Amino acid sequence: MAEIKINQLNFAYDANIPILKDISLILDSTPTAIIGQNGAGKTTLVKLLKGLLTPSSGEILLNGKNIKDLTVAQLAAYIGLVFQNPNDQIFKSTVLEEVLFGPLNIGMSKEKAEEKAREALRLVGLENQINENPYDLGLSERKLIAIASILAMDTEVVILDEPTIAQDYASKEKIKGIIRKLYTQGKMVLTIIHDMDFVAECFERTVVLAQGKVLLDGPTKEVFSKEDKLKEAYLELPHVTKLCKQLGYSETYLTIEELVAAEEQILALENV
Ligand SMILES: Nc1ncnc2c1ncn2[C@@H]1O[C@H](COP(=O)(O)OP(=O)(O)OP(=O)(O)O)[C@@H](O)[C@H]1O
Ligand SMILES: [Mg+2]
Repeated sequence: MAEIKINQLNFAYDANIPILKDISLILDSTPTAIIGQNGAGKTTLVKLLKGLLTPSSGEILLNGKNIKDLTVAQLAAYIGLVFQNPNDQIFKSTVLEEVLFGPLNIGMSKEKAEEKAREALRLVGLENQINENPYDLGLSERKLIAIASILAMDTEVVILDEPTIAQDYASKEKIKGIIRKLYTQGKMVLTIIHDMDFVAECFERTVVLAQGKVLLDGPTKEVFSKEDKLKEAYLELPHVTKLCKQLGYSETYLTIEELVAAEEQILALENV
């Protein structure tokens, strides 16, 4: 199982403007969401984890090894990052070639890469568009191609930067299924996401970034019980949580299923 340990990480694009400030986190295979308002530093943080940026100070340890001592190839084979904007990731002229690039690049055999690419395209629902040019497809499909490209590499760590961008309900459900599948395979999946209902349904742990710092980190239920702190970070509660608060429940509920189960328990106790 993978572990990423971040110790007192600082980062600035411009020396005078600190972006990430003293971030310390231990990330493991617990289903984890990273949330925060626009510009909080989420994408910057995951680019540092992937070695695309270099810390100003502090260190990032992947399974105990400082990532600055790992080669680009080693990091590429271990950490897959789905870019926030698929246009920054996609460069091949057919969907299949695009999804094949990653696995071939990390040294997978042609047969294995093709098998993984086709399986990933099936998972995202693009198996019938493999010969199309990604740029003839819409943003929603390009995001799915970007996800498939990373899935095909079968990396131990999968980082998804805003996987639900431009996705409709059906695709969001598909992405939830993919994330759950990765967890059951024991992989570390870190997901940056703005959709709080998605966070409530899918992730056990939530890390809140605000102005380059970790504002909250803990079980998702605990994080969403801290409404005042979330307001400070300009974040909304999930819809069910908000509704329950407005109805006067003191407990924090994250999903309809959780609320219904709690209500059923109360009714059962009343009927004893
Ligand atoms: N290449 C860059 N050069 C200079 N500043 C940058 C660069 N990329 C991001 N920034 C700045 O760094 C800060 C953090 O940006 P980042 O993209 O990490 O935020 P984010 O939390 O991912 O936001 P969003 O939710 O909008 O994707 C922002 O103030 C942003 O303007
Ligand atoms: Mg971002």
